[in-house]
Amino acid sequence: MLTSLPSILEKAQKKHYAVGAFNVYNLETVQAVITAADKMKSPVILQTSEAAIKYAGLENLGALVHLMAKKTKTPIVFHLDHGKDEKLVVEAIKSGWYCSVMFDGSALPLKENLKKTKKLVALAHSKDVAVEAELGAIAGIEDFVSVEERDARFTDPKQAADFVRETGCDALAIAIGTKHGAYKFHGDCQLDFKRLQEIRKLVKVPLVLHGASGVPAAVKNLAVKFGAEIGEAKGVSDSAIKKAVSLGICKINIDTDLRIAFEAGLHQFIEENPKNLDPRAFLSAGRDLISKTVEQKIRLFGSTKKI
Ligand code: G3H
Ligand code: 13P
Ligand code: ZN
Repeated sequence: MLTSLPSILEKAQKKHYAVGAFNVYNLETVQAVITAADKMKSPVILQTSEAAIKYAGLENLGALVHLMAKKTKTPIVFHLDHGKDEKLVVEAIKSGWYCSVMFDGSALPLKENLKKTKKLVALAHSKDVAVEAELGAIAGIEDFVSVEERDARFTDPKQAADFVRETGCDALAIAIGTKHGAYKFHGDCQLDFKRLQEIRKLVKVPLVLHGASGVPAAVKNLAVKFGAEIGEAKGVSDSAIKKAVSLGICKINIDTDLRIAFEAGLHQFIEENPKNLDPRAFLSAGRDLISKTVEQKIRLFGSTKKI
């Protein structure tokens, strides 16, 4: 069943676990995520990026998720991920498909981010849609040459509290050293947990961790074995995720790990079955590996049996 973002995140925040937000863009990814959530009895967020909408169409993705969500008792939130184009955010809010949207004004000057977020929150709330906002640049610790530069770009706790109060947003994505994609760290995984603790103390709404893929060894090795050139890929460690959850993160965004799983499954099947001419067979292999990856994330985030 479809539900609201605040309803599942507030419960997660109280009970100290996190809900996974997984990027979807076609039939197989939607099926894989919902199958895993059903099996694990876990609430789940299915999110579409602007690029996913461009690829598959807003209505198509909305209808697909709605149809499948209606067939299960598992709480499902359909969410717009990283809405940077205000027009698209407004379209998503008005479309009736989305339970929540993210307005990502993080690249804008603070005042402009605040003003635009506030305006979109008012519109969204009038339509019963929740809003995730973003403050700070989601980038790895290694992306900054100095501590001063990092301090200027990571989320400032006091600024975050003021931003949430003034905009009325329902959840806040924060920058503490994670970044998008498969190449997050050269050396050890480092996150600014002290900053997270300070933000948690001052900000009452649920906090969101983007760029949280772990690039799990088993799936990465399988992808590499079957031809992927991603040897240097490195993600957020499981222990860092657990610590982030224990310090108050309650929505965790995962895309890259599902992409690696999908590709690994596809490549393995194609290589091992060179005579196969049925795309449904290799798509199923990719879909199964995505589903297994989602199950592992749900276990890691602690949201098993939380429906
Ligand atoms: O945070 C971004 C997601 O990984 C979406 O990526 O824009 O290529 O769909 P995408
Ligand atoms: P990853 O690239 O680490 O999977 O992050 C995804 C994300 O933050 C989507 O918004
Ligand atoms: Zn993100």
